[in-house]
Amino acid sequence: MATTILLPSAPPLVVGPKLDKATRPTNQLPQYLADEARDTRKVAFDPNKHLNIVHPNTIYTMTEIGLEGAGISDTAASEPFSLFTPEAVQQMRAEIFSEPVLTNFQYTSDFASNMIRGYGPALAPFIFDAWKSPEVLEAISKIAGIELVTAMDMDVGHINVSINDMSIEVSRGKAGPEDDVSAFAWHRDSYPFVCVTMLSECVGMVGGETAMRLGSGGTMNVRGPAIGTAVVMQGRYIEHQALKSFGVPERISMVTAFRPKSPLIRDETVLTGMRAISNISDLYSQYTEYRLEVIGDRLRALSKKVRERERSKRPFDTAGVKNFLREQKQYIETMLVEMVELED
Ligand SMILES: [Fe+2]
Repeated sequence: MATTILLPSAPPLVVGPKLDKATRPTNQLPQYLADEARDTRKVAFDPNKHLNIVHPNTIYTMTEIGLEGAGISDTAASEPFSLFTPEAVQQMRAEIFSEPVLTNFQYTSDFASNMIRGYGPALAPFIFDAWKSPEVLEAISKIAGIELVTAMDMDVGHINVSINDMSIEVSRGKAGPEDDVSAFAWHRDSYPFVCVTMLSECVGMVGGETAMRLGSGGTMNVRGPAIGTAVVMQGRYIEHQALKSFGVPERISMVTAFRPKSPLIRDETVLTGMRAISNISDLYSQYTEYRLEVIGDRLRALSKKVRERERSKRPFDTAGVKNFLREQKQYIETMLVEMVELED
């Protein structure tokens, strides 16, 4: 019974931050970000006004990069494509750098110095309406080659802020060892797909690409997005690294995570990368909630199949049902591993 895609024996391992508890950054973000947010007149999300979707010309496939069959679809990554209008970017920045969000949702880790995440739809209605709009979901799904939905609210609009010291000379060409050019160590994401959107003006920016590890062991660079544009990547199944950017005063990117819409597709989302940069109670609640929904849907699908077979007088598929149950057992086992009990 091919109700779910078989789990490979060992999904690729995800390495997370070394810290195991949420930590607030010690460095202050520049005041202009909060000032700009306060001065922006808030409007409601309007797909006609705030979206400018142009499908990317180039989508690299898993087959092309030597990782055929590794993920949940054959899309590896897209070139940057137009997604949001300048006004949408401004509205998003106004929500991110608003006082209540900055006060409660800033994080730091050994992976990235300044992150803002987990603020939820009540404080950022524009951002959530945008990412959950049918137009955006359709565009992202089309690029990904599989129907996707946002994974958990926790990872809708995760923000990485990097403020560059403009007094340092732009000397990318001279960069020597690999460490000098990486903004983020080699890693795999915790979610099947991510969409990275640029919320900063990137005129004059040098670097900022994403390097992907090919099946052959070599690497390939994908151009980073410019303001309002985005890239989609199957980051759970591709080892990748963000390269440093130079020549711009700020680089603010927004990462939104996606999972397959169908509960019957393999789901290997892990919490490794999130525990240290999340409110644990919110994280575990959202994780449990979506997973229980997936399990419920899967069990209902199995039950329907069993019933239909019986009605049509076909013999019970013992091997198929047992295999299905084994998969669900394994799915629940991963939850027991992921929900590490942390002290407050
Ligand atoms: Fe990543």
